[in-house]
Amino acid sequence: MKLFAEAFAKVNRSLVVLGKRPDGYHELDTVFQAVGLTDRLTFEESDLLTLELDDPSIPAGAENLVLRAARSLAESAGIRPRAAITLEKRIPSGGGLGGGSSDAAVALVGLSALWELDLPLEVLSRIGGELGSDVPFFLHGGTARGLGRGERIAPLPDLPPQAVVLVMPPFPVSTPEVFRRLEAPVWDGRDGGDLGAGGDPDRNDLEPAAEAIFPALREVREALERAGATRARLSGSGSTVFGLFPDLATAAEAGRRLDGLPAGSAVRVVSTLTREESRSRSAPRLAG
Ligand code: C5P
Repeated sequence: MKLFAEAFAKVNRSLVVLGKRPDGYHELDTVFQAVGLTDRLTFEESDLLTLELDDPSIPAGAENLVLRAARSLAESAGIRPRAAITLEKRIPSGGGLGGGSSDAAVALVGLSALWELDLPLEVLSRIGGELGSDVPFFLHGGTARGLGRGERIAPLPDLPPQAVVLVMPPFPVSTPEVFRRLEAPVWDGRDGGDLGAGGDPDRNDLEPAAEAIFPALREVREALERAGATRARLSGSGSTVFGLFPDLATAAEAGRRLDGLPAGSAVRVVSTLTREESRSRSAPRLAG
């Protein structure tokens, strides 16, 4: 049996840092949005666990999140991890788009199907949350609030579809470095409360720290604002900056007019994905 699935990307519509926790992580209140930029994975029966990867900038060894997901899943099911996996990267790594986390989530679902495990979403979410804070979101898709480290997911109603211009600078950003730069207060133990219920403030608290390290990120954000984005923000810790537009034609036109981007930036115009759309893309199906 050979299965195929797509791993979609995310942007953070908003990201509020509530404070620094005793475990070294930051307590967050963020709104994730699935978008239509995808990696492609296949899963095939095999005697060994192998990963074939088309992007030399990503580690292909044991530390790769897809292989870690495979081993964690097999361990929790009490079986040996046996699969030949291929991964075609389209989502840049270090881009704040959650590519590695999405690949890991798709591996959990794809390998559950290949190995005929019948694990509930809560179990996959727990395994995913141990692999990385963003992984559980990719098991849900659509629009969702992320609490805790970002790993506690509360699905939100689908928003009307929007077009998204993704500006992906040619350099990655290190997430731990951005969090280290942040001068966050000690977390007082309270969650986002009403702030989160209001849902979606137009802010990303990681933006000033990331823009202090890479001033070009601010120029990208301002270029998107000049081009008419209804919202222009850093995604996660960057390096991708996204702009929201009412429709694809407006977004495509704005994408062509952007000026002052760092040399070598990639510009992509994609759509937001509803929960249904994101789940159907990431669901494993028989490869032809
Ligand atoms: O959970 P994940 O492995 O994706 O996190 C990467 C790094 O980002 C962590 O080691 C930590 O330095 C930082 N981080 C944080 N607070 C979060 C999520 C990540 O400080 N909520």
